[in-house]
Formats: sequence, C-alpha cells, structure tokens
Amino acid sequence: MAKLRCLELDLSKERFNDAGYPTVTSDEQIKVECSVAALYNWVKTTNECTKGPILHRERHVNYLKKGLANLPEGCTVLDASRPWFVYWALHALELLDVRLEEEEAAKVIDFLRHCQNPTGGFGGGPGQYSHLAPTYAAVNALVIIGTKEAYDAINREKLQEYLWSMRTPEGAFRMHEGGEIDIRGVYCAVSVARLTNICTSQLFENTPHWIMRCQSYEGGFSGSPGMEAHGGYTFCGLAALTLLNSHHLCHTPALLRWAANRQMPFEGGFQGRTNKLVDGCYSFWQGGLFPILHSLLSEEDASSLSSEKWMFQQEALQEYLLLCCQHPRGGLIDKPSKSPDFYHTCYTLSGMSVAQHFSSGSVHKKCIVGKPTNELALVHPLYNVGLEASISASQHFNSLPVPQTIKVEEEEPAQS
Ligand code: FPP
Ligand code: ZN
Repeated sequence: MAKLRCLELDLSKERFNDAGYPTVTSDEQIKVECSVAALYNWVKTTNECTKGPILHRERHVNYLKKGLANLPEGCTVLDASRPWFVYWALHALELLDVRLEEEEAAKVIDFLRHCQNPTGGFGGGPGQYSHLAPTYAAVNALVIIGTKEAYDAINREKLQEYLWSMRTPEGAFRMHEGGEIDIRGVYCAVSVARLTNICTSQLFENTPHWIMRCQSYEGGFSGSPGMEAHGGYTFCGLAALTLLNSHHLCHTPALLRWAANRQMPFEGGFQGRTNKLVDGCYSFWQGGLFPILHSLLSEEDASSLSSEKWMFQQEALQEYLLLCCQHPRGGLIDKPSKSPDFYHTCYTLSGMSVAQHFSSGSVHKKCIVGKPTNELALVHPLYNVGLEASISASQHFNSLPVPQTIKVEEEEPAQS
C-alpha cells in the first residue's frame, strides 16, 4: 500500500508564504490551507487511516441514485442543464462500477430522446433550445448506457446538420444559435462527432488553427483567443486537438510546464488557473491532461519517456480527494466546507480514476492510495466516459456510414 504523504512528509515546508504582503487572494489561500491542514493533522493524530483512507462507495452511490430519481428543489435553477445531471450521475456511477437497472435506463433514454430537437441538437430539457453543452452531455450519457436502444436514440444525420449550423467561417463553434463562440463549443462538437462517427473534412476545416489561437503565453489554453489560460478550457483545447489528430500543433513543453505547476504543493489537488484556489473538479480538467500529454510526448520522442507514472503526483491528488473531498453524507466536493453536487462528484471521481491508473502501450500500472477497494473503473481521457463504454460505442458507430448532410456550395470562378 502506498504510504500517505501527509503521514510521511513534513508538509509544512509546502505551505504558502505571503512574504509579509497579504492580499485578498493570499488570505484566501492561507484559509484553505488551514482547513486542509486540519484534516491532514486529524489523520496523523487518530488511527482512522491505519489501513489507508477509504473511498465511501456506498454513500456516493446512494447520493447519486437518490438525486437521479428525484432532484432537490434547490436544483430548479439548473433546469436548462438536465442532460448534464444525467451524464454526471451516470459517469460517476460507472466509475463506481454501478450500472442502471433496465427500467431506469429506459426512462433515461426516453428522457434524452425528448431533449433532441428536430433540428438535431439537444436542449437542456424537452422543448428547450438546442445547445452544444447539453448535446455533449446527452451523447455521453447515451454512450455510457451503451445499449442499441441508447445508441439509436441519437439522430446522427440531424446531429451532423446541427453541428454544421453552429460552425463559424473560421472553424470555431457557437454554443447555441446566436450564442458565444468559445473552445467549449469546439470540444463539445468534436467529441460528439468523433464518438458517433459523423466527422467530415468540412466540419472541422481550420478548427485546429482556431484552437491554437487559444494557447496562451502561460502554456495553457483560454476560452477564446487572447484570454486567460484555465484548466477547463485547456482540457477542451488539448482533447479537441488530439481528437482531430492535430496535436502536433500544440506547444507541448509549455503546456506540460503550466499543467504540472497547477498541482498545489501543500493540498495535493489542482487549481484551475494561476493564483487561484484548489478545487476537486480540476482533478479531471487538469489531471486528465496528463494521459493525453503523455501519449503525445511518447509519439514525439519515445526514448525520452521512460516513466511509468503520469507527470504529476498521483498519490497527492488521491489523498486530497479521499481526505478532503468526500462529504460524510455522500457525494464529493470542491474543497472542505463546501456542499456536494453532481458536477464535483463526477469530476473528482474522473480525476481519481486518472490518478489511479497509468496506461501506456501495453503497460498498465496501478497506484491506488488507501484500500484496494478504492479502485475505480478506467476512464477514456478524451471523452470522459468509461473506457469500455467508449470502445463499445466506437465499435457500433464506426460500423455505420458517415452521414453526408453537409453540402458546401461551389465557389463562383473569379471574374477576370
Ligand atoms: C472559472 O470559474 C471557470 C471557468 C473560466 C470555465 C471553466 C471551464 C470548464 C470547467 C470547462 C467546461 C467544459 C465543457 C465541456 C462544457 P471560477 O472563477 O469560479 O473558478 P476558479 O477560481 O477556480 O478559476
Ligand atoms: Zn469546481
């Protein structure tokens, strides 16, 4: 069993030092470190973790199943994100090795079928306008269910038409009709197109070049050209570039340096951007970059990568998640004192799965902090669905022809 970092090391050396110049930001950082230190010290002074910290599977499964059946009233503000709830819950459950009963799955499929509009995109609920974010969530949820009925619920021809209608002349994508253009839109479009095998050369023409305009001087990617690098957007940029086989365009050393420096030296979890606080959800948005980066770097120069680990501290991340991010009543959280929600439960577990498994070529090494029963299912880092679900979906959709709904008008020959 891996030794606990908080028991073995003198972590006080890793605490933030404001050098005598406190600011609002530095004070917040110190407060968070105190709340994390209290939990790490509690482990030191009690015998709670002699056999290693435990992932409270049953509590998390109950939390997810209860919420999936009946969301609390407080969630009404998120009525336009209903496919997201379904995806977050289903993905967290698949990582915990739980599949829906047939009847539950049938209800979910029926619900998501009603979210797909005749124009091809999915809305945040039945009868709502189409939007690329719930479209991504709905497709991922159906892929996780993974039955023929679930796959058939996606109208691929219409979905392709919808993606085309969201495309800008530069190759970026709007989140919805008349909506904002950003890298999330690009990733959502590329991810669903790849998973369901509806890509054509026109659909993503110039898209890699638009994505590359978002890699900032820091090395991470921003939401749109010229903005601040952030983990959420960086994941979208790198995953989309890779799915488009254009990763060679990325400046990988700068990205690796930026991503590795987002792991907090004391807390062990990741921050989303420079000078901000640790948050459990970045375990995936940042942690998920490493398997992708690793495979890109090993393609660039196989001899330089003798590592059998990702290039971040996998144990430290798991310790943060197990000791600071599990809510006692089930569900996972951003940081101590926060409440659980489906979003954080999904992305903390996705990040934990990445941290537990190292797979490169035929090598598969595990690094499980705490009890061996803490092991989660493997995740596909480009789509963030279970690896098995992604393989089954690709087998199914790749056996179908690519729809040809995109008709590009021939350009008029130039007048002399
Ligand atoms: C900052 O929030 C958050 C952002 C700037 C956007 C994050 C983007 C994602 C999580 C990716 C979404 C991906 C898809 C597929 C839709 P904040 O200022 O509250 O947090 P911070 O202080 O941690 O930066
Ligand atoms: Zn978060």
